[in-house]
Amino acid sequence: MTEDILSRFLMESEKNPEEMTDLYLRDIILNFMIAGKDTSANTLSWFFYMLCKNPLVQEKVAQEVRDVIGGKAEDNKANIDDVVAAITDATLDQMHYLHAAMTETLRLFPAVPVDGRCADVDDILPDGFKVKKGDGVYYMAYAMGRMPYIWGEDAPEFRPERWLKDGIFQPESPFKFIAFHAGPRICLGKDFAYRQMKILSIALLSFFRFKLADETKPVNYKTMFTLHIDGDLPLCAVSRAAS
Ligand code: HEM
Repeated sequence: MTEDILSRFLMESEKNPEEMTDLYLRDIILNFMIAGKDTSANTLSWFFYMLCKNPLVQEKVAQEVRDVIGGKAEDNKANIDDVVAAITDATLDQMHYLHAAMTETLRLFPAVPVDGRCADVDDILPDGFKVKKGDGVYYMAYAMGRMPYIWGEDAPEFRPERWLKDGIFQPESPFKFIAFHAGPRICLGKDFAYRQMKILSIALLSFFRFKLADETKPVNYKTMFTLHIDGDLPLCAVSRAAS
């Protein structure tokens, strides 16, 4: 039987029915849906937007996909089943450029653009700033991702190469690259999110080259809890086999 996340929790709940009630299971699934759906979907929209704005990066990602999973797309013989069968943990781990391009997208377009906490008790921050019980303390991941102070003078540029050394992805401290939060309450679904986003991107980029339907249409964010694109993002998908 294929085990999805709900069936795994259901099996666990049979061992521990007192604590893992239906209400508890409902809350877990809702939590995963709220935490995981819009964040990953919006990141994919911004990722494809960045690939359209930076066609060279798009070609480099597509080339890496071809190099790692066997180059079939290039021979015009690509078959979706072959491509999907070639996506394994081992092949995903080899796609450093794809990982860098997604991370660069999240630096500039963090799915949770503002996050924070409310102080339970009076406290003093490491720099001496006094926080009173009930005060809110927020950080702006969106602004932090664009600060030259943190990322250097080229902070506004979309440059996946900044994450690579000799072709290998170099992670940053989560307190610097804050898109998934940091510390004990860091995103639990980070690896899951990268994997899902990579699988979808590999499947699409193996077969299509993407372009903005209207290069002149401004693309802005909409102020919401997650970083949505304002309106829609019409793209043209051009078959790689035809070009
Ligand atoms: C690009 C995708 C994602 C981004 C940018 C993201 C970002 C974040 C951030 C910033 C937080 C901290 C929220 C806070 O405590 O204030 C968080 C928490 C969390 N995320 Fe994600 N997330 C993503 C995808 C996912 C996915 C796919 C799942 C589940 C399958 C998930 C599950 C969770 C859970 C369970 C928490 C709460 C962790 C805790 O409080 O201990 N996330 N995420």
